[in-house]
Amino acid sequence: MRKVRVRLGARDSYDILIGAGAIGRLGEVARGALSPRARRVVVVSNARVFALYGARVVSALAASGFAVEPWLMGDGERHKTLRTAERALDFFARAGLQRTDAVVALGGGVVGDLAGFAAALHLRGVAFLQVPTTLLAQLDASVGGKTGVNTRAGKNLIGAFHQPRAVLIDTATLSTLAPRELTAGWCEAVKHGAVGGRRLFESTRAFLASRAVQRVARGARAVRRETGDARSVQSGEDGARVVAGSAGVGEDDALDALVAEHCAFKARVVAADERESAERAGPLSRRVLNFGHTVGHALEAVTGFRRFRHGEAVGRGMIVAAEISNRLGLLATSELQSLREAVALAGPLPRADDLDPDSILRAAAADKKAAGGQLHWVLLERIGRARVVPAGDIPAPVVRASLRAGLAPP
Ligand SMILES: NC(=O)c1ccc[n+]([C@@H]2O[C@H](COP(=O)([O-])OP(=O)(O)OC[C@H]3O[C@@H](n4cnc5c(N)ncnc54)[C@H](O)[C@@H]3O)[C@@H](O)[C@H]2O)c1
Repeated sequence: MRKVRVRLGARDSYDILIGAGAIGRLGEVARGALSPRARRVVVVSNARVFALYGARVVSALAASGFAVEPWLMGDGERHKTLRTAERALDFFARAGLQRTDAVVALGGGVVGDLAGFAAALHLRGVAFLQVPTTLLAQLDASVGGKTGVNTRAGKNLIGAFHQPRAVLIDTATLSTLAPRELTAGWCEAVKHGAVGGRRLFESTRAFLASRAVQRVARGARAVRRETGDARSVQSGEDGARVVAGSAGVGEDDALDALVAEHCAFKARVVAADERESAERAGPLSRRVLNFGHTVGHALEAVTGFRRFRHGEAVGRGMIVAAEISNRLGLLATSELQSLREAVALAGPLPRADDLDPDSILRAAAADKKAAGGQLHWVLLERIGRARVVPAGDIPAPVVRASLRAGLAPP
């Protein structure tokens, strides 16, 4: 197994362990990471993921002497709520989860955020372990300790910083993930590279290119089926290259290495800016991870959160932000092109050229990432280097032209 350490200060750190089949080692990892007095573990998951991996998680924990109680929440973003957290907390209390016991989150980012949040609240904080099973959660959401729920006012508006004691990434779990979930995760991977460094960008792009296969129409079909729009796929169909789903992942050292590289990047960002300070905007501030999000969130909002997976919307948002950067003379045209190519390699995205630019801009202005009420854009100076710019500094015609160019079919 590969290991990446997240350092949070002189005394505080935790490990991310990565490898195909890693779930089999969960018991020993938990024994190493938790209090010697830990006896009971609640595994928070959903029915879909638990049916696939629950038995292995439970038996690995039981083999190391833990009393294991599963608790399943609903599947999907709409279940990431205070109500669900309250139910989880009721269950923790009924199960007799003590201060030295722990919660294990088994699932994607929804389960991880909810389980971590409930763990932060139970008895004012019990330990938790992340066992992420989506690409997005493995590369990003499971690392860094941001936990929380959605409210009527918006996504992730209530939460806590609560770091896991360990993150165990079994990359073989990606073999059962739906193609669009993989595309969404790969878009976030491209984002990490775009703001994190040319090496990370290049290794991500090279991995995606090496797994690209001629006309694997699965991803494209899935977008079409799920958005109900025959014209919805703007890239990835004709002569197109789509990253293989289950064919491309499994026991796979190159994949493990790439996931480890992404986790190391996220770990560096978290170490430099654990609590996402509003004042920080440098290359290792958490704010640069919002690259693509100004338009990404707006696209999700104007389509009623039905058309795009979050990562897919970020994919389109990154291209718009790069178009702005290019028009302002910050980013070379060849760099813009590299980014476009990397996003295309991530997989087919739902269409966005039918959406009204004014509605998108209004939705962007309402976004919660607008720190202190002011909208910001994360722009690129080059691949691997981002800059946070107040929206007021960018001429409106530049934004409009970039939206048109970024949302048009390639
Ligand atoms: N905490 C953070 O730092 C952070 C960062 C990014 C995103 N997030 C959050 O993550 C959430 C999105 O996470 P996500 O993209 O993982 O979505 P998700 O958790 O909804 O998972 C996507 C779908 O895949 C299914 N699934 C999960 N693993 C599977 C597997 N191995 N095989 C088959 N199906 C599987 C899930 O049941 C779900 O239906 C959002 O709520 C977002 O706010 C948090």
